[in-house]
Amino acid sequence: MNLMKTFYITTPIYYPSGKYHIGSAYTTCLCDSVKKYKQLNGYDARFLTGNDEHGQKMAETARKNNKTPQEHVDYMAELSKELWELLKIDYDDFIRTTEDRHEVVVQKIFERLLENNDIYLGEYSGHYCMSCEAYFTETQLIDGNICPDCGLETKVLKEETYFLRLSKYADRLLEYIEKNPDFIVPETRKNEVVQFVKSGLNDLSVSRTAFDWGVKVKSNPKHIVYVWIDALSNYITALGYGSDNDKLYQKYWVNGDEVIHVVGKDILRFHAIYWPIMLMALDLPIKFRLFAHGWYLMKDGKMSKSKGNVIYPEQLVDAYGLDAFRYYIVRELTYGHDGEFTPENYVKRINTDLANDYGNLVSRTVSMVNKYFDGKVSTTKHNHDYKEFELDLEKVANESFINYKNAMDEFKIAEALSEISALVRRTNKLIDDTFPWDLAKEESKKEVLESVMYHLLEGIRLITILYQPFLLETTPKVFSDLEVENKYRGFDAYQFGQIESYQVAKKIKHLFPRLDVEKESEHIREMMASNKPKEEPKKDYQVKPEIDFNDFTKLDLVVGKIIDAKPHDNADKLLVFTVDTGDKIRSIVSGIAKYYQPKELINKNVLVVVNLKPVKLRGVLSEGMILSVESKNGELTVIELPQNLKPGDKIN
Ligand code: ME8
Ligand code: MG
Repeated sequence: MNLMKTFYITTPIYYPSGKYHIGSAYTTCLCDSVKKYKQLNGYDARFLTGNDEHGQKMAETARKNNKTPQEHVDYMAELSKELWELLKIDYDDFIRTTEDRHEVVVQKIFERLLENNDIYLGEYSGHYCMSCEAYFTETQLIDGNICPDCGLETKVLKEETYFLRLSKYADRLLEYIEKNPDFIVPETRKNEVVQFVKSGLNDLSVSRTAFDWGVKVKSNPKHIVYVWIDALSNYITALGYGSDNDKLYQKYWVNGDEVIHVVGKDILRFHAIYWPIMLMALDLPIKFRLFAHGWYLMKDGKMSKSKGNVIYPEQLVDAYGLDAFRYYIVRELTYGHDGEFTPENYVKRINTDLANDYGNLVSRTVSMVNKYFDGKVSTTKHNHDYKEFELDLEKVANESFINYKNAMDEFKIAEALSEISALVRRTNKLIDDTFPWDLAKEESKKEVLESVMYHLLEGIRLITILYQPFLLETTPKVFSDLEVENKYRGFDAYQFGQIESYQVAKKIKHLFPRLDVEKESEHIREMMASNKPKEEPKKDYQVKPEIDFNDFTKLDLVVGKIIDAKPHDNADKLLVFTVDTGDKIRSIVSGIAKYYQPKELINKNVLVVVNLKPVKLRGVLSEGMILSVESKNGELTVIELPQNLKPGDKIN
């Protein structure tokens, strides 16, 4: 029988629409550090991460990259795993929603919800823009029916869709939240959820028919399961729920001791409302706790490539090392709050906490132990004038450990780390309190000096024990420089006086070289600027699918003479033309204001589609379309026809 307590921790499964920036790295590093902490605490810990690969947007992204959706997500899965490897993320499983083991079970989950009548077939109706493939609300529309994004007419569409009965479970959810006060943390997030649920839940549309990159509904395959129903299931499909082998599901979920989903506040509702309701409807235990953290922001708001304010983990790791990155990323955001990434803070944080405090303590101590004792010191029972400083350090170290654990158990990582920093400073203070260089001058103080050195080394050992979940490369190095055996590296060895004697390395490299704040901040800013996308030349022209001659003849193309032209009152990009097309005088709106002064086109003969259904563009009627040519760099040139042609002459 396994007596170890179990712990199951998950990140969100990220959308692989582009390279992951420090935001995704934040959640993932946080989970990894918590996993390592739990292992030090004697837990059997399991860590899941992965990618969320379905949905219309993913298909769109793939198309933009000239890839099939499958090619795109396969490629991105490799990139993601490379990043996690670089960051030494010790996940136990990486789930991808396009895997069979996941898709098959999502289908089962959907069918089961249908059988229980928690999902029902209904109708969704709204204003749909064909060209943008999106629904808009009345308030978003321009002039009642024009798409705010592309300016084309929308249609009222009624779409058959499945709904999940959220409303039926609202009260049960509220009751669950009340009975389990730690279910959603921090408290502020819990309050948000409660308020939202109390304001009333509408049933949720959980299938789509407009595209097909997703999991098909088994009993009605023209429907695709809504990405969030698909994605949320990952937390249990990855454990084998619903498959032939659900051992992990039984162990870590059903009979597990602790399950924690870590997410950003952006996806709080999905995890705090939809997911528990899905579990209730499936009659599965809720089991998990939810920790919703804040965001990393940039000076000018959210991270965005086009603003040139994105920074990638790879860049920071290359420049300043893995431990500095992993330390900073979980240290800078305080519990539940947003925080700002700034190049200055990055450099200063490393300088202060790692180079000055910890690094300095280790290098000073090792060099003194070498200088005064040839690298070897032992514990002494000797009583001396400085005993009170040593005893105080021991006391502080014991308190630090308790505070550190309390903070870590509640995912207050920044707090736990600042607790270690305080202990580092207290240990450094032992040097200031005792003046070892003076003690070294008197032979009679040799034993006192040895006692002080021993306490410094034990202090370093305890600090290093606590840093293990964070400083993955540095802590083993320090232990080996101090020749600390494995059995003295665990939480159960966290106590002064465990080691009889130390033999330290002759020379050690400084753990974290001090950085020049101005120079390195500038370097980080340059890296950020280099991430700004260059103006890319347009992709080569791709031939559209074939059409019949019949299709072509549906177009009514004629010569039009432009009689008048003026700017559109409500749109900078549009010009309004008065055009003689032989049959009548038409008003035609065209998006070429960037390229032409209105007057320069008057009297020109142009090519017009006259049987295009009239639309209102920002309030002005447009009865046809003036054709123009788009060059590779996106500039438009109106197609001009010879002056001898007459309005209404047909183009065949
Ligand atoms: O939402 N600061 O994926 P996603 C902190 N596929 N954390 C950040 C961040 C930032 N600036 N930016 C991103 C999805 N994150 C869904 C999830 S789960 C069943 C499906 C982190 O790629 C944070 O954890 O948009 C946030 O919740 C997540 O990335 C969103 O990742
Ligand atoms: Mg997102």
